[in-house]
Amino acid sequence: MELTVTDKTEVLKDWLRDAYAMESQAVEMLERQVGRIENYPELLAKAKEHVEVSKRQADRLKDCLAQLGTQPSSIKTGIQMLIGNAQSLSGVVAPDEIVKASVFNYAFEHFEIANYRALIAAAESAGKPEIARILKQSLDEELEMAGWLEQRIPQVTQTYLTRRETMSASEAKR
Ligand SMILES: [Fe+2]
Repeated sequence: MELTVTDKTEVLKDWLRDAYAMESQAVEMLERQVGRIENYPELLAKAKEHVEVSKRQADRLKDCLAQLGTQPSSIKTGIQMLIGNAQSLSGVVAPDEIVKASVFNYAFEHFEIANYRALIAAAESAGKPEIARILKQSLDEELEMAGWLEQRIPQVTQTYLTRRETMSASEAKR
């Protein structure tokens, strides 16, 4: 038996709250990374830009929830922000942090992409095309970020390894 429009709207609200928590997690992780990236100016600039993009995406989700007469869940958001904090600290002592963070961010972008695709389908199914249209803007931004990272990961890895080689070469001279 198919869900009623009211039931579908309840599911949509719940998923929008999850997505708001996800974007809060993204902001938390990226802000931590921004504070730690050195020697990779292009990556730093893109991370800073994506902090602002993610904040806008969170605002959009809040607007969608407001249109449905509700708001984000402070419990869900709080938990995700704690996770985001822990994730961004996990690489603290690793010298290859920049490579690991790029790989993680690429995976996280795809997590976001998948969530927006599900949300858009849910909004359409619940007869909320305006909400689907708003979410599509965020989906396009995540696709852009994922594409950017996809191109940069080999280059960041090469740069990292070249620097490591330079370091061991100078260590060898001593
Ligand atoms: Fe995002």
